[in-house]
Amino acid sequence: MQVFQRVKDLSDFQQDLAAKGASLGFVATMGALHEGHLSLLKRSISENEASIVSIFVNPTQFNRAEDLQNYPIRTNEDLQLLEAAGCTAVFMPPVEEIYGDSVKSEQIDLVGLDQGMEGEFRPGHFEGVATVVKRFFEIIKPQRAYFGNKDYQQVLIVKHVAKLFNLPIEVVGVPTSRYSNGLAMSSRNFRLSEKGMEEATIIHQQMMWARANYKDLNPEALKAQIRLHFKASNLELEYVEFADSEGMHIVKEWSNHKSVRILIAAFCEGVRLIDNTSLY
Ligand code: PAJ
Repeated sequence: MQVFQRVKDLSDFQQDLAAKGASLGFVATMGALHEGHLSLLKRSISENEASIVSIFVNPTQFNRAEDLQNYPIRTNEDLQLLEAAGCTAVFMPPVEEIYGDSVKSEQIDLVGLDQGMEGEFRPGHFEGVATVVKRFFEIIKPQRAYFGNKDYQQVLIVKHVAKLFNLPIEVVGVPTSRYSNGLAMSSRNFRLSEKGMEEATIIHQQMMWARANYKDLNPEALKAQIRLHFKASNLELEYVEFADSEGMHIVKEWSNHKSVRILIAAFCEGVRLIDNTSLY
């Protein structure tokens, strides 16, 4: 496995692949890797001759300084996991390699995909994501890129960015990896106690409850019930929302939409967790 820190060091690797006509799959991460990240890599390995993973804690997508400061860093463990999984290359640049001396987001029109949910509660977050993903796409030039549906709004935004800038990259959304109790795998789980990991399963339970009951309640009534269920738990709900699977428009009536997702953000032991799944 080759490890690169500088953009210029990637060029031999890329020329080698181009000469062989080999396709490159790309998985963008912020490290602290778990089985969810590895599922993206496995998919990339199965569909491409070579796979590259980036590890980069992107400063522009954090709207709270303490969140950035507390983000788990586990570089040695990460590199071991990637090597064992059969990864071809890792790109882990320092911040100045991506941003120079201007650590700022670009203005990119996200056509309203960033309104609501993560965009509403984390101002500037998706500008930061769009900026860094565009830069990685331009630097790495993969044929395919793999993103987790765990961050569903992000997947739609990344697909939009690839299209907006005419980048010839197929963006693939990959199902969420979960523990057997339903909790979505996340780097942020590393900051939870065992008790917290158990309590956090309410997020998945409420998504399943919504799926079982949406036909009997309108969206507002369903949200009100879910808010009540969270009140009785140790988690602090930030939002529960129903959004159209294609455009992330907020759902007011089920009958207006062909396909809807439920999206939740909640704090558990001060750690912000998000999850989503299809309702129908
Ligand atoms: P990060 O949170 O490290 O996630 C990297 C990729 O792994 C994302 O595409 C995310 O959706 C996916 N992922 C995380 N948990 C998953 C799970 N349980 N199952 C399946 N996939 C999962 O998302 C980011 O980093 C950043 O915003 C990034 C895209 C790297 C830009 O900085």
